[in-house]
Amino acid sequence: MARLSVNVDHVATVRQARKAFEPDPVTAALNAELAGADGITVHLREDRRHIQDRDVFILRKTVKTSLNLEMAATQEMLGICLEIKPDMITIVPEKRQELTTEGGLDVRKNMEPLKKFVQTVREAGIAVNLFIDPVPDAVKYSHRIGSTGVEIHTGAYADAKTGAGREAELKRIYDSAVLSRRIGLKTHAGHGLDYTNVKEAAAMKEIEEFAIGYSIISRSVYVGIGEAVKEMKRLVG
Ligand code: PXP
Repeated sequence: MARLSVNVDHVATVRQARKAFEPDPVTAALNAELAGADGITVHLREDRRHIQDRDVFILRKTVKTSLNLEMAATQEMLGICLEIKPDMITIVPEKRQELTTEGGLDVRKNMEPLKKFVQTVREAGIAVNLFIDPVPDAVKYSHRIGSTGVEIHTGAYADAKTGAGREAELKRIYDSAVLSRRIGLKTHAGHGLDYTNVKEAAAMKEIEEFAIGYSIISRSVYVGIGEAVKEMKRLVG
């Protein structure tokens, strides 16, 4: 049964629309955990468009499951990560103009700086996943630079417009997940997964954890975060 890490970024998106105090991602995270979330994920972006430093610091104290900090491989984020010590970080490529993370890391191109970065974080006792596209090379290079694991980008699968396209993307995810497990990496997946498309990915026993945000927080508006998390847990498990 795969674990579900609930990404609460978009609770903060609503709060930041008014630069107000609510809704609070910390409260949302607590409720997600009460409903059975196996972990909480937040992305502290360079431009602080949703999650704020204060959120991450408080979450470190309140999250009882596992805190996953998504971040770019910058010196600023390294400092914050070493201070907060989340259970895990997921390194993502970050562009200011994007609405959400668009693609996986180019691990091969950034081997040397990434290797150093990963080593420093792992020496602090923090697990490191790299967010990668579902391609074998990215899995192999992640292993080579010493990451704990990978998070396989499921966005192209979620965005596929035809049955054939979905099948092709699922195969890419599956092949990457099989390879990742075979070489001993922790194998996670996420991005764009929702209540209609998660089942096919969740059927892959190689995937140990899913990071899902937007669809859960969207459904929370109608049914509350507890119910939204429970429904997703049933689909993932
Ligand atoms: N995984 C990573 C690395 C992400 O950047 C995001 C989006 O912040 C997610 C998972 C969650 O994606 P979604 O919000 O589409 O479920």
